[in-house]
Amino acid sequence: MRKHYTKLFLFLCLCCIILLFYATNISKYSLTAYKNNATLRSNSRDNVYYVTKNVDRVVISFVVCDSRFNESLNLIKSSLLFSSSPLYFIIFADDKLRNNFSITLNKWKKILGDNLKFEIQRIVFPEEHKEEWMNLFSKCAAQRLFIPKLIPHVDAMLYVDTDTIFLGPPEQLWGFFSQFNAYQISAMSLEDDNPNVSWYPRFAKHPFYGKYGLNSGVMLMNLTRMREFAWVDYVTPIMLKYKLYIPWGDQDIINIIFHYHEKAVYLLSCRYNYRTDQCMYGDACADATNRGVFILHGSRRAFHNHKQPAFEAIYRAIDEYKVGGDPSEVLNNMEKYLDAAPESNCGNQKNGLLKLPRRILNNMYVKPNR
Ligand SMILES: *[C@@H]1O[C@H](CO)[C@@H](O)[C@H](O)[C@H]1NC(C)=O
Ligand SMILES: *[C@@H]1O[C@H](CO)[C@@H](O)[C@H](O)[C@H]1NC(C)=O
Ligand SMILES: *[C@@H]1O[C@H](CO)[C@@H](O)[C@H](O)[C@H]1NC(C)=O
Ligand SMILES: *[C@@H]1O[C@H](CO)[C@@H](O)[C@H](O)[C@H]1NC(C)=O
Ligand SMILES: *[C@@H]1O[C@H](CO)[C@@H](O)[C@H](O)[C@H]1NC(C)=O
Ligand SMILES: *[C@@H]1O[C@H](CO)[C@@H](O)[C@H](O)[C@H]1NC(C)=O
Repeated sequence: MRKHYTKLFLFLCLCCIILLFYATNISKYSLTAYKNNATLRSNSRDNVYYVTKNVDRVVISFVVCDSRFNESLNLIKSSLLFSSSPLYFIIFADDKLRNNFSITLNKWKKILGDNLKFEIQRIVFPEEHKEEWMNLFSKCAAQRLFIPKLIPHVDAMLYVDTDTIFLGPPEQLWGFFSQFNAYQISAMSLEDDNPNVSWYPRFAKHPFYGKYGLNSGVMLMNLTRMREFAWVDYVTPIMLKYKLYIPWGDQDIINIIFHYHEKAVYLLSCRYNYRTDQCMYGDACADATNRGVFILHGSRRAFHNHKQPAFEAIYRAIDEYKVGGDPSEVLNNMEKYLDAAPESNCGNQKNGLLKLPRRILNNMYVKPNR
């Protein structure tokens, strides 16, 4: 009899060990993400809006850690300002900032109602190589590479760097999804289309997209298709192979993947990701000059480093705008600050910068009739 009990006991122990081993193994990736998600939900019930079905509105997403809080609020403000359709934001933020976002966005939600919805997600990296991922390029920026797996309830999103500002309607950019052919999973602009200026053909020590490379600061992601593509399975082997040669981190990894899958990219015009490169040596983006800059991207700290007064002027006008206020005031301030700025090559593109704001912000606000 005793012998039977001992056997049973040993058997149960074995089961426990196997179970434990298995559970630890899974938790390396999926469980951590799930647990984090669950904790977040129960902690802040009303602050975080989750959808259970597919999101049926324009989704804008970004990743933010450390110091980029103000900048990302201005990104949100600009997209709200130029949109005439409801927006859904998915914000991946570190522990320090999640509550700040929640407070500010709930305040804005009181003003804008259902036109603004959002969810706030934790930063989650696979346990393996977590530190390497965390510190690739700027802190936690590589999170974006894992997004297809982290939010399985979302079909597609406009991914933007926090140092971008909308000057046109997000829903219009969203419209490019419907132009994708059967192979395309993502849309981006080129880093540059002048080989004398573009970084990749001159310096890159790794494969990159096409002749000039992509800039990933504005990226349409069809997450459904990226999941079918098994996107997330590509990123770790590439990071391990090239980690010493990829100064731009996640953007370089995206370039390496699309080097081998050129057909998967829908190419956007430079007006959708307008950087100082497009104006500082003269006009290098005719489409923006003709049809207007659609998204201004202050990469390399162009909104803050006092080297690009025109970029700073636009940023300042958005920064000073209070949600719910008169949009035509933003336009007046853009004009005013651009006129007051010291002359520069980018400042010479004033008409391109203001083309869309002039058209959209002037007509948006019905002035009280006195
Ligand atoms: C642990 O996880 C890896 C990766 O998902 C899998 O290949 C392996 O079979 C798992 N091991 C066990 C014991 O479940
Ligand atoms: C987070 O929660 C939502 C809503 O319950 C769920 O759809 C999603 O799959 C969860 N995310 C992860 C990474 O588990
Ligand atoms: C962020 O914005 C707040 C409120 O407008 C301001 O007090 C603060 O100085 C700003 N911080 C930075 C780093 O610009
Ligand atoms: C976030 O909120 C905390 C607590 O209110 C505050 O101390 C901190 O300065 C805020 N951070 C930013 C970037 O606004
Ligand atoms: C993304 O791709 C899936 C699968 O092809 C498709 O069903 C869905 O409509 C696409 N999403 C958008 C926004 O075009
Ligand atoms: C690039 O530089 C070469 C040599 O200086 C010049 O001939 C060419 O016109 C330049 N290309 C562009 C697009 O500026």
